[in-house]
Amino acid sequence: MKEIYNWGIIGPGRIAGKFASAIREVPRARLYGVASRTLSKAEAFAAEHQATTVFESYEALAQSPDIDAIYIATPHTFHHAHSMLCLAHKKPVLCEKPLAINSRQVKEMLAFAQKQDTFLMEAIWTRFHPNILRCLDWIEKGEIGEPQFLRADFGFYNAFDPESRLFNMDLGGGALLDIGIYPLFLAQLIFGKPEKIQAMAALSPTGSDKWIDIQIRYPGDKLAHLHASVIVDTNIEAEIYGPEKKILLHNRWHNPAPISLYQRQTCLRTETFPDRIGYAYEIEEVISCLDAGKKQSSLLPHAFSLQLMETMDEIRSQCNIVYPQFD
Ligand SMILES: NC(=O)c1ccc[n+]([C@@H]2O[C@H](COP(=O)([O-])OP(=O)(O)OC[C@H]3O[C@@H](n4cnc5c(N)ncnc54)[C@H](OP(=O)(O)O)[C@@H]3O)[C@@H](O)[C@H]2O)c1
Repeated sequence: MKEIYNWGIIGPGRIAGKFASAIREVPRARLYGVASRTLSKAEAFAAEHQATTVFESYEALAQSPDIDAIYIATPHTFHHAHSMLCLAHKKPVLCEKPLAINSRQVKEMLAFAQKQDTFLMEAIWTRFHPNILRCLDWIEKGEIGEPQFLRADFGFYNAFDPESRLFNMDLGGGALLDIGIYPLFLAQLIFGKPEKIQAMAALSPTGSDKWIDIQIRYPGDKLAHLHASVIVDTNIEAEIYGPEKKILLHNRWHNPAPISLYQRQTCLRTETFPDRIGYAYEIEEVISCLDAGKKQSSLLPHAFSLQLMETMDEIRSQCNIVYPQFD
């Protein structure tokens, strides 16, 4: 067991900066190295986030004997290639969501991680947040009875830009894979494997989904209504309904936001959580898995990521959302 884990970051873009800040909040993690396609960019990132070493390529970072775990923060369409690169060098991988672009890629990644006997986890940070843990705890304790219906949304406004990661199909553009994955994650966490999926989307001129609306039926007549959009700001809330009570996950529920228990319109109680950068929780989960010699997280196992991607494959097929380079 290591005292301090040396982290490497591949793809120092927007999210990588936040992740680097979170590393500083985890005493047993250190940002050791960063790799970019452009050396000067890696140098600037390393200076800003106090990384020890700059690598001239992703490959050089992946094979460094000084790196203990790698965070992959490139656009979706590179997750498969960059995870495979790190796994080839037997480096534990925390790969940003979505784990890949389709379930064929996910299966290859999971099989390769198993063959290499190396840790791999999708960076669905929300799974480890205290609001989600409390929500599961309340459900487990029967606070709302048997959950019957779930409603969750995630939408934020972006001007159309065919080059941006959110609309460019070569980078995996679209609401579903980028943020629709959060409501789908929550529904799967609560209800499990879908029984029937019905989805509707509107496509942008690049063919990316600018909004997506999904209804899913689960065993036992459970129902989820999920929405994601990259063209309007929505509430970004989630509600889980039992027969008479509900749990409300407040605005920006994918962060460690407050959570309330309601009986009809009456709020029975609200809980808030420490003001801490949310990515720290997933970093701690990776470290505790590596400490224990685990190759996958039991809170976010490989089978969960594969099921999630199979659901998204089905939704994309219903809505004619195609990534021509990959599908
Ligand atoms: N968990 C979360 O809360 C959260 C939030 C936002 C995004 N994400 C995920 O993180 C990933 C990255 O998102 P982001 O918004 O950080 O992306 P971004 O800033 O647009 O790009 C990230 C980095 O990827 C590298 N890259 C490698 N090949 C590239 C290519 N062909 N085109 C563009 N960039 C390329 C670039 O770094 P170099 O050129 O320097 O190598 C770039 O800075 C996405 O998969 C997204 O789903 C997660």
